[in-house]
Amino acid sequence: MTQALLIRGGTVVNADRAERADVLCVAGRIAAVGAGAAAQAPAGAAVLDASGQYLLPGGIDPHTHMQLPFMGATTMDDFFTGTAAGLAGGTTSIIDFVIPDPQEPLLDAYRKWRGWAAKAAADYGFHVAVTWWSAQVHADMGTLVQQEGVNSFKHFMAYKNAIMCDDETLVHSFARALELGAMPTVHAENGELVFLLQQQLLQRGITGPEGHPLSRPPTVEAEAAQRAIAIADVLGVPIYVVHVSCAESAEAIARARARGQRVYGEVLAGHLLIDDSVYRHPDFATAAAHVMSPPFRPRGHQEALWRGLQSGQLHTTATDHCTFCAAQKAQGREDFTRIPNGTGGIEERMAVIWDAGVNTGRLTPSEFVAITSANAARLFNIYPRKGCIAVGADADLVLWDPEGHKTLSARTQFSKGDFNIFEGRSVRGIPSHTISQGEIVYAQGDLRVEPGRGRYVPRPAFSPDFQALQRRAELLAPTPVQRQKV
Ligand code: URP
Ligand code: ZN
Ligand code: ZN
Ligand code: ZN
Repeated sequence: MTQALLIRGGTVVNADRAERADVLCVAGRIAAVGAGAAAQAPAGAAVLDASGQYLLPGGIDPHTHMQLPFMGATTMDDFFTGTAAGLAGGTTSIIDFVIPDPQEPLLDAYRKWRGWAAKAAADYGFHVAVTWWSAQVHADMGTLVQQEGVNSFKHFMAYKNAIMCDDETLVHSFARALELGAMPTVHAENGELVFLLQQQLLQRGITGPEGHPLSRPPTVEAEAAQRAIAIADVLGVPIYVVHVSCAESAEAIARARARGQRVYGEVLAGHLLIDDSVYRHPDFATAAAHVMSPPFRPRGHQEALWRGLQSGQLHTTATDHCTFCAAQKAQGREDFTRIPNGTGGIEERMAVIWDAGVNTGRLTPSEFVAITSANAARLFNIYPRKGCIAVGADADLVLWDPEGHKTLSARTQFSKGDFNIFEGRSVRGIPSHTISQGEIVYAQGDLRVEPGRGRYVPRPAFSPDFQALQRRAELLAPTPVQRQKV
């Protein structure tokens, strides 16, 4: 059993408040917070001095792709190296994606991904993608929710001729998700438009990575976001839009929320900080390394995303960690549509968002906790086991040194990717220690993890959102007109 750990003298930051408090971890859980924690520590407990530092709930990255086979390549980071890199950056849990091929049974794909994830170093769960529709898919969604602890389904509205989901599948799957109390999520891009624009650009002789953002302009994203939001509205189901990258999508979410709809938006660390000038870099490898979807956006969109987080109209931050190396990206040297889509960031997310969010006064430390951990835990119904420093919660913590400095680089990263989209960026505010399941797994640059120490975290269905929506549906249920028989 893990040795008990007493963390003394830090400022404990939760999404609702920050206070000076000691924290005692015993057997992987938080056993005491505040006055009395030290007195309760068993003999032989390890002691970590947290003075001058913040103690935060471990980060939750609700959008990663470890060991993903995609566009003819498999990502460099597997579940061990990717989650280990996350721990080095203060992220103690991920939610990854099971992505069945069209016609592949959901349960077969789910079992395959569970096997791949067995070597994870940090706790994990899965969203399962619905890439096709049949009675079998309908049944498998039920099994996943009721027996396997899956409470969210993903729909790719892009990637035509591969994993794209048409409106028929979206409607069936959203309706089924509502029955099951599971959150539908969407990658919002109009895949038909992307496909057409790609062909037009190639015909014009635009074959390099600069074609990538041109084939996926903001309106292509906003149209799909609005369509998914409208379908969810008609069906009365909540919806979570992954990687909101542009002002137009953020506005669509804010408008729907103002109408009372339960719509949630996720923002990637990269989209908050990087603009589309990267695609015109003269070096193919550098430009291609940034090819991910939706693409990085023109200047101005980044500020719109920050405002969305500040105003509470956008809710979570993620990375879409999906690392392809230069050799893999080179398969699209003559044709940008063949460059495997994906970028990394799991190791840097917390630090870059703290530096650009808290150090600039855009976010308070508690708001930082909300968007890096607590909100994801709430939306995917694992709060307060995760996302909160409280008695009984998992002892997943990050000791945050607000004065620690670091210059981010592919040369020093733990991730197996060979590129860092934040290369050369200096950040102030970094994890000094990461604690996972009560164990110090990262200390001042030293990462100490074994494959397989991560656990699968089942997530129950029917989060409070669904309970409220059910009540609403009961009260507003349509009734027939009773007419006299003639
Ligand atoms: O470019 C990306 N984002 N690759 C991973 C798959 C996805 O769309 O999330
Ligand atoms: Zn049904
Ligand atoms: Zn996506
Ligand atoms: Zn993704």
